[in-house]
Amino acid sequence: MRFLTILPLATCALAANITRFAPSVPLAPSPLPLPHTRSDGEAIISLFETLGRTTIWRSIANITLQSPGYTYEPEGIVRLGSDRYVVSAGDWTVPATSYGNGLIINGTDRTAGEGFAHFLVYTGNGTLLADATLTAPGEIEYHTGGIDFDGKYIWTTLAQYRPNSTAHIVRVKPTDLSQETVLRVLDHQGAIVHNTAKQTLHTLNWGSRNASTFAYSQSGQHGRPKHYKPKPSNVSPFASSIATVRNPSYFIDYQDCKLLSLASPSYNYRPIMLCSGIATLGTYYLGGIALVDVETMVPVAEVPITLRTDAGVPLTVNPVEVSVVNGKLRMYWLPGIGETVLRVFEADPRSPFEFGGGPQ
Ligand SMILES: *[C@@H]1O[C@H](CO)[C@@H](O)[C@H](O)[C@H]1NC(C)=O
Ligand SMILES: *[C@@H]1O[C@H](CO)[C@@H](O)[C@H](O)[C@H]1NC(C)=O
Ligand SMILES: *[C@@H]1O[C@H](CO)[C@@H](O)[C@H](O)[C@H]1NC(C)=O
Ligand SMILES: *[C@@H]1O[C@H](CO)[C@@H](O)[C@H](O)[C@H]1NC(C)=O
Ligand SMILES: *[C@@H]1O[C@H](CO)[C@@H](O)[C@H](O)[C@H]1NC(C)=O
Ligand SMILES: *[C@@H]1O[C@H](CO)[C@@H](O)[C@H](O)[C@H]1NC(C)=O
Repeated sequence: MRFLTILPLATCALAANITRFAPSVPLAPSPLPLPHTRSDGEAIISLFETLGRTTIWRSIANITLQSPGYTYEPEGIVRLGSDRYVVSAGDWTVPATSYGNGLIINGTDRTAGEGFAHFLVYTGNGTLLADATLTAPGEIEYHTGGIDFDGKYIWTTLAQYRPNSTAHIVRVKPTDLSQETVLRVLDHQGAIVHNTAKQTLHTLNWGSRNASTFAYSQSGQHGRPKHYKPKPSNVSPFASSIATVRNPSYFIDYQDCKLLSLASPSYNYRPIMLCSGIATLGTYYLGGIALVDVETMVPVAEVPITLRTDAGVPLTVNPVEVSVVNGKLRMYWLPGIGETVLRVFEADPRSPFEFGGGPQ
Protein backbone atom coordinates (compact mmCIF):
# COMPACT_ATOMS: atom_id res chain seq x y z
CA MET A 1 0.00 0.00 0.00
CA ARG A 2 2.89 2.33 0.55
CA PHE A 3 3.18 3.07 -3.14
CA LEU A 4 -0.50 3.70 -3.82
CA THR A 5 -0.85 7.17 -2.37
CA ILE A 6 -0.73 10.13 -4.72
CA LEU A 7 -0.41 13.42 -2.90
CA PRO A 8 0.54 16.91 -4.00
CA LEU A 9 4.26 17.74 -4.04
CA ALA A 10 4.38 19.47 -0.68
CA THR A 11 3.18 16.37 1.16
CA CYS A 12 3.96 13.57 -1.25
CA ALA A 13 6.95 12.11 0.54
CA LEU A 14 6.33 8.63 1.87
CA ALA A 15 7.23 8.34 5.52
CA ALA A 16 10.09 5.95 5.93
CA ASN A 17 9.59 2.37 7.12
CA ILE A 18 12.37 2.93 9.58
CA THR A 19 13.98 1.58 12.72
CA ARG A 20 15.84 4.23 14.71
CA PHE A 21 18.45 2.79 17.04
CA ALA A 22 19.23 6.12 18.69
CA PRO A 23 16.03 8.16 18.21
CA SER A 24 17.41 11.31 19.82
CA VAL A 25 20.45 11.44 17.52
CA PRO A 26 19.78 13.29 14.24
CA LEU A 27 20.24 11.24 11.07
CA ALA A 28 21.96 14.07 9.23
CA PRO A 29 23.87 17.19 10.25
CA SER A 30 22.00 20.48 10.26
CA PRO A 31 22.48 22.32 8.03
CA LEU A 32 23.15 19.58 5.48
CA PRO A 33 26.67 19.64 4.05
CA LEU A 34 27.29 21.01 0.58
CA PRO A 35 27.42 18.44 -2.23
CA HIS A 36 30.74 17.79 -3.99
CA THR A 37 29.63 20.05 -6.86
CA ARG A 38 29.55 23.04 -4.51
CA SER A 39 32.51 22.21 -2.31
CA ASP A 40 35.45 19.91 -3.03
CA GLY A 41 34.54 18.61 -6.52
CA GLU A 42 37.13 20.59 -8.51
CA ALA A 43 39.82 19.83 -5.92
CA ILE A 44 39.01 16.11 -6.24
CA ILE A 45 39.30 16.39 -10.03
CA SER A 46 42.73 18.07 -9.76
CA LEU A 47 44.00 15.49 -7.28
CA PHE A 48 42.64 12.63 -9.41
CA GLU A 49 44.84 13.89 -12.25
CA THR A 50 47.95 13.20 -10.14
CA LEU A 51 47.05 9.52 -9.69
CA GLY A 52 48.56 6.69 -11.69
CA ARG A 53 49.40 3.00 -11.59
CA THR A 54 52.21 3.61 -9.09
CA THR A 55 50.18 5.71 -6.64
CA ILE A 56 50.78 4.58 -3.09
CA TRP A 57 47.46 4.20 -1.26
CA ARG A 58 47.87 4.58 2.50
CA SER A 59 45.30 2.87 4.71
CA ILE A 60 43.81 5.59 6.93
CA ALA A 61 40.98 3.77 8.69
CA ASN A 62 38.99 0.54 8.74
CA ILE A 63 35.56 1.45 10.05
CA THR A 64 33.57 -1.60 11.10
CA LEU A 65 29.93 -0.91 10.32
CA GLN A 66 27.55 -2.23 12.96
CA SER A 67 25.34 -5.03 11.64
CA PRO A 68 21.61 -4.37 11.15
CA GLY A 69 21.03 -8.05 11.96
CA TYR A 70 21.04 -9.51 8.45
CA THR A 71 23.63 -9.93 5.72
CA TYR A 72 23.45 -7.24 3.08
CA GLU A 73 25.23 -6.25 -0.07
CA PRO A 74 26.34 -2.63 0.05
CA GLU A 75 25.54 -0.81 -3.20
CA GLY A 76 26.24 2.87 -2.67
CA ILE A 77 27.52 5.29 -0.06
CA VAL A 78 27.33 8.99 0.63
CA ARG A 79 29.23 10.83 3.30
CA LEU A 80 27.30 13.65 4.99
CA GLY A 81 30.09 15.53 6.71
CA SER A 82 32.68 13.74 8.82
CA ASP A 83 30.24 11.97 11.15
CA ARG A 84 27.55 10.41 8.92
CA TYR A 85 27.54 7.75 6.23
CA VAL A 86 24.42 6.62 4.39
CA VAL A 87 24.76 3.19 2.76
CA SER A 88 22.29 1.77 0.24
CA ALA A 89 22.09 -1.95 0.80
CA GLY A 90 20.34 -4.99 -0.62
CA ASP A 91 18.98 -7.78 1.56
CA TRP A 92 18.51 -10.61 -0.95
CA THR A 93 16.03 -13.09 0.55
CA VAL A 94 15.33 -15.25 -2.54
CA PRO A 95 18.07 -15.34 -5.18
CA ALA A 96 17.34 -14.38 -8.79
CA THR A 97 18.27 -17.56 -10.65
CA SER A 98 19.25 -17.97 -14.28
CA TYR A 99 16.68 -19.62 -16.56
CA GLY A 100 19.69 -21.52 -17.96
CA ASN A 101 20.64 -22.61 -21.49
CA GLY A 102 20.69 -18.96 -22.62
CA LEU A 103 16.90 -18.86 -22.26
CA ILE A 104 15.35 -15.37 -22.46
CA ILE A 105 11.81 -14.84 -21.16
CA ASN A 106 10.19 -11.40 -21.37
CA GLY A 107 13.53 -9.94 -22.39
CA THR A 108 15.49 -11.15 -19.39
CA ASP A 109 17.55 -14.21 -18.43
CA ARG A 110 16.64 -14.95 -14.83
CA THR A 111 13.85 -15.12 -12.25
CA ALA A 112 12.93 -11.99 -10.31
CA GLY A 113 14.07 -13.27 -6.91
CA GLU A 114 13.03 -11.39 -3.79
CA GLY A 115 14.57 -8.90 -1.45
CA PHE A 116 14.48 -5.51 0.19
CA ALA A 117 16.29 -2.25 -0.46
CA HIS A 118 17.59 -0.52 2.64
CA PHE A 119 19.25 2.76 3.55
CA LEU A 120 21.49 2.38 6.59
CA VAL A 121 22.69 5.46 8.47
CA TYR A 122 26.00 5.23 10.36
CA THR A 123 28.03 7.63 12.45
CA GLY A 124 31.67 8.25 11.56
CA ASN A 125 32.75 5.35 13.80
CA GLY A 126 30.29 2.87 12.27
CA THR A 127 27.52 3.02 14.90
CA LEU A 128 24.20 2.19 13.23
CA LEU A 129 21.67 4.99 13.80
CA ALA A 130 18.85 3.86 11.52
CA ASP A 131 17.71 1.21 9.07
CA ALA A 132 15.04 2.24 6.55
CA THR A 133 13.39 -0.28 4.23
CA LEU A 134 12.68 1.46 0.93
CA THR A 135 10.63 -1.31 -0.68
CA ALA A 136 7.42 -3.03 0.38
CA PRO A 137 7.19 -6.81 0.78
CA GLY A 138 6.64 -8.39 -2.64
CA GLU A 139 7.85 -5.29 -4.51
CA ILE A 140 9.62 -6.62 -7.61
CA GLU A 141 11.86 -3.54 -7.99
CA TYR A 142 13.77 -4.19 -4.78
CA HIS A 143 17.38 -3.66 -5.92
CA THR A 144 18.91 -0.36 -4.80
CA GLY A 145 21.94 0.85 -6.71
CA GLY A 146 24.62 3.49 -6.38
CA ILE A 147 23.56 6.67 -4.60
CA ASP A 148 24.50 10.34 -4.72
CA PHE A 149 23.73 13.41 -2.61
CA ASP A 150 22.78 16.63 -4.40
CA GLY A 151 22.78 18.96 -1.37
CA LYS A 152 19.15 18.25 -0.55
CA TYR A 153 18.29 14.66 -1.47
CA ILE A 154 19.99 11.30 -1.79
CA TRP A 155 19.08 9.73 -5.10
CA THR A 156 18.82 6.04 -5.83
CA THR A 157 17.36 3.66 -8.36
CA LEU A 158 15.12 0.80 -7.26
CA ALA A 159 15.18 -1.86 -9.94
CA GLN A 160 14.38 -5.46 -10.65
CA TYR A 161 17.50 -7.50 -9.90
CA ARG A 162 17.91 -8.64 -13.51
CA PRO A 163 19.08 -7.10 -16.77
CA ASN A 164 16.69 -5.47 -19.28
CA SER A 165 13.89 -5.14 -16.72
CA THR A 166 12.32 -2.12 -14.99
CA ALA A 167 13.19 0.41 -12.32
CA HIS A 168 11.96 3.49 -10.57
CA ILE A 169 13.95 6.44 -9.34
CA VAL A 170 13.47 7.82 -5.86
CA ARG A 171 14.86 10.71 -3.91
CA VAL A 172 15.30 10.32 -0.17
CA LYS A 173 15.47 13.08 2.43
CA PRO A 174 18.59 12.60 4.58
CA THR A 175 16.88 14.03 7.68
CA ASP A 176 14.10 11.43 7.96
CA LEU A 177 14.68 9.00 5.03
CA SER A 178 11.23 9.74 3.61
CA GLN A 179 11.13 8.97 -0.09
CA GLU A 180 9.45 10.21 -3.26
CA THR A 181 9.19 8.30 -6.51
CA VAL A 182 10.21 10.63 -9.32
CA LEU A 183 9.91 8.48 -12.43
CA ARG A 184 9.83 4.95 -13.81
CA VAL A 185 12.29 3.50 -16.31
CA LEU A 186 11.89 0.62 -18.75
CA ASP A 187 15.28 -1.00 -18.03
CA HIS A 188 17.34 -2.11 -15.06
CA GLN A 189 19.12 0.91 -13.53
CA GLY A 190 22.05 1.05 -11.12
CA ALA A 191 24.10 4.13 -10.32
CA ILE A 192 22.52 7.60 -10.51
CA VAL A 193 23.58 11.23 -10.25
CA HIS A 194 21.48 14.41 -10.35
CA ASN A 195 22.56 17.49 -12.28
CA THR A 196 20.90 20.23 -10.21
CA ALA A 197 21.74 22.93 -12.77
CA LYS A 198 19.95 21.20 -15.65
CA GLN A 199 17.49 19.24 -13.51
CA THR A 200 18.52 16.07 -15.22
CA LEU A 201 18.99 12.61 -13.80
CA HIS A 202 21.72 10.37 -15.19
CA THR A 203 21.46 6.63 -14.68
CA LEU A 204 23.58 3.63 -15.61
CA ASN A 205 21.95 0.35 -16.54
CA TRP A 206 23.03 -3.29 -15.99
CA GLY A 207 26.84 -3.47 -16.11
CA SER A 208 26.83 0.32 -16.75
CA ARG A 209 26.68 -0.48 -20.47
CA ASN A 210 24.29 2.39 -21.23
CA ALA A 211 23.75 5.77 -19.61
CA SER A 212 20.39 7.53 -19.81
CA THR A 213 19.51 11.16 -19.19
CA PHE A 214 16.05 12.04 -17.87
CA ALA A 215 14.43 15.41 -17.32
CA TYR A 216 12.35 14.98 -14.22
CA SER A 217 10.81 18.43 -14.06
CA GLN A 218 10.65 21.67 -15.95
CA SER A 219 11.83 24.93 -14.50
CA GLY A 220 9.27 27.65 -14.09
CA GLN A 221 10.08 31.31 -14.53
CA HIS A 222 11.48 31.48 -11.05
CA GLY A 223 13.41 28.29 -11.40
CA ARG A 224 10.94 26.28 -9.38
CA PRO A 225 9.78 22.85 -10.51
CA LYS A 226 6.34 23.33 -12.08
CA HIS A 227 5.26 20.01 -13.49
CA TYR A 228 6.93 17.69 -11.05
CA LYS A 229 4.43 15.02 -10.08
CA PRO A 230 5.76 12.00 -8.28
CA LYS A 231 3.89 8.86 -9.20
CA PRO A 232 3.53 5.53 -7.51
CA SER A 233 5.86 2.99 -9.01
CA ASN A 234 3.18 0.49 -9.93
CA VAL A 235 0.83 2.66 -11.97
CA SER A 236 2.76 5.47 -13.67
CA PRO A 237 4.01 5.13 -17.25
CA PHE A 238 7.67 4.71 -18.07
CA ALA A 239 9.60 7.92 -18.68
CA SER A 240 11.32 8.50 -22.00
CA SER A 241 14.95 9.43 -21.70
CA ILE A 242 16.24 12.58 -23.37
CA ALA A 243 19.23 10.58 -24.46
CA THR A 244 20.66 7.10 -24.05
CA VAL A 245 24.32 6.68 -24.86
CA ARG A 246 26.41 3.56 -25.02
CA ASN A 247 29.25 3.52 -22.51
CA PRO A 248 32.37 3.39 -24.70
CA SER A 249 34.60 2.06 -21.91
CA TYR A 250 34.98 -1.64 -21.16
CA PHE A 251 37.81 -1.01 -18.71
CA ILE A 252 35.51 -1.49 -15.68
CA ASP A 253 31.74 -1.59 -15.05
CA TYR A 254 30.80 1.33 -12.81
CA GLN A 255 28.92 0.51 -9.60
CA ASP A 256 28.61 3.79 -7.74
CA CYS A 257 29.24 7.35 -8.90
CA LYS A 258 29.63 10.76 -7.27
CA LEU A 259 28.91 13.90 -9.25
CA LEU A 260 31.89 16.22 -8.79
CA SER A 261 31.29 19.10 -11.16
CA LEU A 262 28.40 20.55 -13.13
CA ALA A 263 30.83 22.26 -15.52
CA SER A 264 34.48 21.46 -14.92
CA PRO A 265 37.04 24.02 -16.20
CA SER A 266 39.51 21.09 -16.37
CA TYR A 267 37.34 19.34 -18.94
CA ASN A 268 35.90 21.96 -21.25
CA TYR A 269 33.11 22.79 -18.77
CA ARG A 270 31.62 19.33 -19.03
CA PRO A 271 29.73 17.73 -16.10
CA ILE A 272 32.10 15.23 -14.49
CA MET A 273 31.48 12.35 -12.07
CA LEU A 274 33.78 9.92 -10.30
CA CYS A 275 32.85 6.25 -10.64
CA SER A 276 34.32 3.10 -9.14
CA GLY A 277 33.88 -0.47 -10.26
CA ILE A 278 35.33 -3.73 -11.50
CA ALA A 279 35.57 -5.90 -14.57
CA THR A 280 35.80 -9.69 -14.54
CA LEU A 281 38.49 -10.76 -16.99
CA GLY A 282 38.41 -14.54 -17.02
CA THR A 283 39.17 -15.32 -13.39
CA TYR A 284 40.82 -11.96 -12.73
CA TYR A 285 38.95 -9.06 -11.15
CA LEU A 286 40.21 -5.72 -12.38
CA GLY A 287 39.32 -2.81 -10.13
CA GLY A 288 39.44 0.86 -10.98
CA ILE A 289 38.20 4.41 -10.61
CA ALA A 290 37.41 6.88 -13.36
CA LEU A 291 36.40 10.45 -13.99
CA VAL A 292 33.59 10.27 -16.51
CA ASP A 293 31.72 12.83 -18.60
CA VAL A 294 28.21 12.43 -17.20
CA GLU A 295 26.39 12.96 -20.51
CA THR A 296 28.65 11.19 -23.03
CA MET A 297 30.08 8.53 -20.68
CA VAL A 298 33.53 9.26 -22.12
CA PRO A 299 36.10 8.58 -19.38
CA VAL A 300 38.47 11.54 -19.04
CA ALA A 301 40.82 9.90 -16.52
CA GLU A 302 41.15 6.27 -15.39
CA VAL A 303 43.27 4.59 -12.74
CA PRO A 304 43.38 0.87 -11.91
CA ILE A 305 43.03 -0.03 -8.21
CA THR A 306 44.57 -3.33 -7.16
CA LEU A 307 43.71 -3.05 -3.46
CA ARG A 308 41.82 -6.04 -2.06
CA THR A 309 40.30 -7.20 1.18
CA ASP A 310 42.08 -9.94 3.12
CA ALA A 311 39.62 -12.35 1.47
CA GLY A 312 40.75 -11.15 -1.98
CA VAL A 313 37.70 -9.04 -2.90
CA PRO A 314 38.63 -5.95 -4.93
CA LEU A 315 37.86 -2.86 -2.86
CA THR A 316 36.12 -1.18 -5.79
CA VAL A 317 33.41 -3.84 -6.20
CA ASN A 318 30.61 -1.73 -4.68
CA PRO A 319 30.21 1.69 -2.98
CA VAL A 320 32.64 4.57 -3.35
CA GLU A 321 32.96 8.00 -1.73
CA VAL A 322 35.69 10.59 -1.96
CA SER A 323 36.91 13.62 -0.04
CA VAL A 324 39.86 15.94 0.36
CA VAL A 325 41.51 16.08 3.79
CA ASN A 326 44.47 18.43 4.35
CA GLY A 327 44.90 18.73 0.60
CA LYS A 328 45.05 14.95 0.07
CA LEU A 329 42.64 12.72 -1.79
CA ARG A 330 40.73 10.20 0.32
CA MET A 331 38.78 7.27 -1.09
CA TYR A 332 36.14 5.33 0.82
CA TRP A 333 35.33 1.81 -0.37
CA LEU A 334 32.86 -0.71 1.04
CA PRO A 335 33.34 -3.98 -0.83
CA GLY A 336 31.32 -7.16 -1.08
CA ILE A 337 28.41 -9.06 0.44
CA GLY A 338 28.77 -9.59 4.16
CA GLU A 339 31.72 -7.19 4.20
CA THR A 340 31.10 -4.59 6.86
CA VAL A 341 34.40 -2.73 6.98
CA LEU A 342 34.49 0.68 5.33
CA ARG A 343 38.05 1.13 4.08
CA VAL A 344 39.48 4.62 3.91
CA PHE A 345 42.63 5.26 1.87
CA GLU A 346 44.67 8.33 1.09
CA ALA A 347 46.70 8.82 -2.08
CA ASP A 348 50.26 9.58 -1.04
CA PRO A 349 51.31 12.71 -2.95
CA ARG A 350 54.92 11.50 -2.80
CA SER A 351 54.09 8.43 -4.91
CA PRO A 352 56.79 7.83 -7.53
CA PHE A 353 56.21 9.42 -10.89
CA GLU A 354 55.48 6.84 -13.52
CA PHE A 355 57.16 6.93 -16.91
CA GLY A 356 55.02 4.30 -18.59
CA GLY A 357 54.52 0.61 -19.00
CA GLY A 358 58.13 -0.36 -19.66
CA PRO A 359 60.56 -0.27 -22.54
CA GLN A 360 58.94 0.32 -25.91
C1 LIG B 1 43.08 -1.95 7.82
O1 LIG B 1 43.06 -3.36 7.70
C2 LIG B 1 44.09 -3.89 6.87
C3 LIG B 1 43.95 -5.39 6.86
O2 LIG B 1 42.70 -5.75 6.43
C4 LIG B 1 45.45 -3.52 7.40
O3 LIG B 1 46.44 -3.95 6.52
C5 LIG B 1 45.54 -2.00 7.57
O4 LIG B 1 46.77 -1.67 8.19
C6 LIG B 1 44.40 -1.51 8.42
N1 LIG B 1 44.46 -0.06 8.50
C7 LIG B 1 44.41 0.62 9.61
C8 LIG B 1 44.48 2.10 9.53
O5 LIG B 1 44.29 0.08 10.69
C1 LIG C 1 6.10 -12.59 -18.95
O1 LIG C 1 5.23 -11.47 -19.08
C2 LIG C 1 3.86 -11.83 -19.08
C3 LIG C 1 3.06 -10.55 -19.37
O2 LIG C 1 3.44 -9.52 -18.49
C4 LIG C 1 3.50 -12.45 -17.73
O3 LIG C 1 2.15 -12.83 -17.71
C5 LIG C 1 4.38 -13.66 -17.50
O4 LIG C 1 4.14 -14.19 -16.20
C6 LIG C 1 5.85 -13.32 -17.64
N1 LIG C 1 6.66 -14.52 -17.54
C7 LIG C 1 7.61 -14.68 -16.63
C8 LIG C 1 8.32 -16.00 -16.62
O5 LIG C 1 7.95 -13.79 -15.85
C1 LIG D 1 14.28 -6.32 -23.39
O1 LIG D 1 13.03 -6.86 -23.09
C2 LIG D 1 12.00 -6.55 -24.02
C3 LIG D 1 10.74 -7.23 -23.52
O2 LIG D 1 10.51 -6.98 -22.17
C4 LIG D 1 12.37 -7.04 -25.40
O3 LIG D 1 11.37 -6.60 -26.33
C5 LIG D 1 13.72 -6.49 -25.82
O4 LIG D 1 14.14 -7.08 -27.01
C6 LIG D 1 14.75 -6.83 -24.75
N1 LIG D 1 16.00 -6.19 -25.09
C7 LIG D 1 17.16 -6.85 -25.06
C8 LIG D 1 18.37 -6.05 -25.42
O5 LIG D 1 17.24 -8.03 -24.72
C1 LIG E 1 30.75 6.62 18.08
O1 LIG E 1 30.46 7.97 17.87
C2 LIG E 1 29.35 8.45 18.62
C3 LIG E 1 29.16 9.88 18.23
O2 LIG E 1 28.84 9.98 16.89
C4 LIG E 1 29.63 8.30 20.11
O3 LIG E 1 28.49 8.68 20.83
C5 LIG E 1 29.95 6.85 20.41
O4 LIG E 1 30.34 6.71 21.77
C6 LIG E 1 31.09 6.34 19.54
N1 LIG E 1 31.25 4.91 19.76
C7 LIG E 1 32.43 4.34 19.83
C8 LIG E 1 32.42 2.84 20.02
O5 LIG E 1 33.46 4.95 19.73
C1 LIG F 1 8.93 -2.56 6.70
O1 LIG F 1 10.15 -3.26 6.48
C2 LIG F 1 10.19 -4.57 7.00
C3 LIG F 1 11.52 -5.17 6.64
O2 LIG F 1 12.54 -4.40 7.14
C4 LIG F 1 9.09 -5.41 6.42
O3 LIG F 1 9.09 -6.68 7.05
C5 LIG F 1 7.75 -4.74 6.63
O4 LIG F 1 6.75 -5.48 6.00
C6 LIG F 1 7.81 -3.35 6.04
N1 LIG F 1 6.54 -2.67 6.22
C7 LIG F 1 5.91 -2.09 5.20
C8 LIG F 1 4.62 -1.44 5.56
O5 LIG F 1 6.33 -2.08 4.07
C1 LIG G 1 21.89 0.67 -25.16
O1 LIG G 1 20.99 1.59 -25.73
C2 LIG G 1 20.76 1.38 -27.11
C3 LIG G 1 19.93 2.53 -27.62
O2 LIG G 1 18.83 2.76 -26.81
C4 LIG G 1 20.09 0.01 -27.30
O3 LIG G 1 19.89 -0.24 -28.66
C5 LIG G 1 20.98 -1.06 -26.71
O4 LIG G 1 20.30 -2.31 -26.74
C6 LIG G 1 21.34 -0.74 -25.27
N1 LIG G 1 22.35 -1.69 -24.79
C7 LIG G 1 22.33 -2.19 -23.57
C8 LIG G 1 23.39 -3.19 -23.26
O5 LIG G 1 21.52 -1.87 -22.74
